Amino acid sequence: MKILITGGAGFIGSALVRHIIAHTGDSVVNVDKLTYAGNLESLANVASNTRHAFEQVDICDRPALERVFSQHRPHAVMHLAAESHVDRSIDGPAIFIETNIVGTYTLLEVAREYWQGLDSEGQRAFRFHHISTDEVYGDLDGDDLFTEQTSYAPSSPYSASKASADHLVRAWHRTYGLPVMVTNCSNNYGPYHFPEKLIPLTILNALEGKPLPVYGNGQQVRDWLYVEDHARALYTVLTLGQAGETYTIGGHNEKTNIEVVATICQLLDELVPSPLAPRSTLITHVADRPGHDRRYAIDAEKIQRDLGWQPQETFASGIRKTVQWYLDNRDWCRRVQDGSYQRQRLGLGE
Ligand SMILES: NC(=O)c1ccc[n+]([C@@H]2O[C@H](COP(=O)([O-])OP(=O)(O)OC[C@H]3O[C@@H](n4cnc5c(N)ncnc54)[C@H](O)[C@@H]3O)[C@@H](O)[C@H]2O)c1
Repeated sequence: MKILITGGAGFIGSALVRHIIAHTGDSVVNVDKLTYAGNLESLANVASNTRHAFEQVDICDRPALERVFSQHRPHAVMHLAAESHVDRSIDGPAIFIETNIVGTYTLLEVAREYWQGLDSEGQRAFRFHHISTDEVYGDLDGDDLFTEQTSYAPSSPYSASKASADHLVRAWHRTYGLPVMVTNCSNNYGPYHFPEKLIPLTILNALEGKPLPVYGNGQQVRDWLYVEDHARALYTVLTLGQAGETYTIGGHNEKTNIEVVATICQLLDELVPSPLAPRSTLITHVADRPGHDRRYAIDAEKIQRDLGWQPQETFASGIRKTVQWYLDNRDWCRRVQDGSYQRQRLGLGE
C-alpha cells in the first residue's frame, strides 16, 4: 500500500512514518510544509529508504496537492498536518483557521476528485483517515470519559478548528461517500516532541536549572499516551477500521499536570544527579491558560474490542523512555529551537 501522510515531519506524523517504514512493507508519501514544528531531522533514519518520498507542500495549495496525488497515486491518506499548539492558537488564531480548516477542506476536495477517478475496486479500498484530538469534546465532569458519542464542545481556537475539520471530514463521507475514518486521541508524549509542550519543555528547563512553569494550580488532568502507541493505533485503524467510523484513542493514564512535572523532576534527579536536585524546587506556578479545560480522559474500549489495539506503555515506562531520549538527543533539541522560539511563555492572548 502507498500511504500519503500529511504532517509527517511533525511529532506524531514522524512517529507514524518511522513505524510504517520499520514494521510494514508499505510506502509513504510524506507531505509537509515544514513549519517551525516540522523537522526533517526527525526522519533521519528513514530519509534514504526507497519506501519514503518527501514532498514539501502546503495543504492549502490545491494545485500542488493535485500534482502530488496524480504523481504518486496513493491508496490511502492519513491527515495529520495541523497547527497543534493551544497556546499559539490563543495568541494567533488565523493560521489555525487556515491550515486546520481551509487546509483540511482543500485536501478533502483534492482527495475526492482523485477518488472519483479511481476504478470501482480502487474506490472501495481507498481510505481518508483524519487524525484529531479529544480536545474537541471540551471539559469533562466528575469521572466521565469521552467516547465516540460525546458531543462536541471545543474551548480553544485550536480545538474549535479541529472540530470544524472533523465535521467537514464526516460531511464528505455522508454527502459524497468518500470512505473516511476519524480518530480522536488524547495527549501524546515521547521522542521528537517540540519543546514548547509541557513534557519536553519541563525536561529541558529542569536540566538547565530554569523555572518550571505550571499553569494555575496544576490540577488539570490529561490522559497521556506514548506516541509510538498512537502510531500503532493509527496504522491499526487504517488497515482494520471500518469506513465511516470514529475511534477514540487513549492511554488509560490520567495524570494531573503537577504530577507529570514532579515525575520528570524525580527521574532527572535519579538519572542526572546534580546540585540542582531536588529539581521539584524549580516548579513555579504561573497565570493559568485562558479557557483552560480541567480534565480530558478517553474510553478506548471500541478500538480495543473491534480492532484489538491497546497501549503497550504505562505512563511510568513511557515517561522514563522519554526523559532518557531527551538526555540522549540534546543536539536535536538545540537544532529545532534555533528559530524564533526560545521556550518563552505563550498563550496569554496579549
Ligand atoms: N500532540 C498531541 O498530543 C495530539 C493529540 C491528538 C491529536 N493530535 C493531532 O495530531 C496531528 C499531529 O500532531 P503533532 O503533535 O504531531 O503536531 P506537530 O505540530 O508536531 O506537527 C504538525 C506538522 O504539520 C506540518 N504542517 C503544519 N501546517 C501545514 C500545512 N499548512 N501544510 C502541510 N504541513 C503542515 C508541520 O510542518 C508539522 O510537521 C494534529 O492534527 C493534531 O491535531 C495531536
